Amino acid sequence: MYPRALIPLEKTVKILDQTRLPGEMIYNEYDDYRDIIVSIKKLEIRGAPAIGIAGAYALAIAAHADVDTDVEHLKRILTDVATEIKNARPTAVNLAWAVDRTLNVAHAYGGDDKNEFCGHLWDEATAILKEDEELCAAMGRYGAELIKDGDTILTHCNAGALATGGMGTALAVIYAAHEQGKKIKVYADETRPLLQGARLTAWELQQAGIDVTLNVDSASGILMRQGRISCVILGADRIAKNGDVANKIGTFNVAVLARAHGVPFYVAAPYSTFDQNVNSGDDIPIEERSADEIVNWGGIRTAPEGIKVYAPAFDITPHDYVTAYITDKGVKPGGRED
Ligand code: MRU
Repeated sequence: MYPRALIPLEKTVKILDQTRLPGEMIYNEYDDYRDIIVSIKKLEIRGAPAIGIAGAYALAIAAHADVDTDVEHLKRILTDVATEIKNARPTAVNLAWAVDRTLNVAHAYGGDDKNEFCGHLWDEATAILKEDEELCAAMGRYGAELIKDGDTILTHCNAGALATGGMGTALAVIYAAHEQGKKIKVYADETRPLLQGARLTAWELQQAGIDVTLNVDSASGILMRQGRISCVILGADRIAKNGDVANKIGTFNVAVLARAHGVPFYVAAPYSTFDQNVNSGDDIPIEERSADEIVNWGGIRTAPEGIKVYAPAFDITPHDYVTAYITDKGVKPGGRED
């Protein structure tokens, strides 16, 4: 059983506060869409598919809140609320995808029964959650075919159960290979600055009984040079039409190292992460985070006062660094030529 990032209840959702992992496993219950937006911004819930699911439920919860409004007026209100939710984090397309999918259900509703209308929105959010669970399982099945007994996999950030509605994207492949009885090892980049690799991936894999070793981000070079890595598998926040990949900052560094060492570089992502509306990585908005996340750690100042900071949360890996994409429809070749 994998940890659940979000659990829907009746007109509320419980969100696992990932900022407190691995020390504490605490779920916060939300009945106001604005609190869910804050939860997404604070990275209580994070990971592309998971924030999409949270966004869809946020819209459904917003619909329930306006008790005195008729359906037609509510549709107009929800259009603005949807924009507010989508703006919470700009890079992962799954957020906009899931919110728009739920909003489309609202606009498609032709009746005037508010309860029925709200029920349709809630059901759509639940459909997105359930579907994501299946997409994860499918990526796991297809991706595990690439993994041999004895392989050692490097991953970056957290693309596991905590980031999705199911068993993860990149980590689904690892879970599936492990369940097939393959003896695999994983190296987890700690993933500065918010340590999703150390706090989340290392924790998740350890809970699942998978052999995982934590390393600082800058150790991925020596790991590959020493021949210790069979392949890299990680997730994505958005994949452009030409195959360029937006993912957690540091992904591109790993991709360059992988190409330099002839290590296959796999990106696992469901169809909801592929954005047909952007031609290349240059068109993907890159979220910048607060300088506070860089200059402080654990309440201790780690850089001089007044220092200038550059804090992109994601980077772009050009398609010619990608060996293959592990999708819910199968493994598709990337643009890398070796
Ligand atoms: O800032 P985060 O923690 O939301 O970043 C998450 C990532 O970059 C993941 O690798 C990506 O969303 C894929 S999750 C299946």
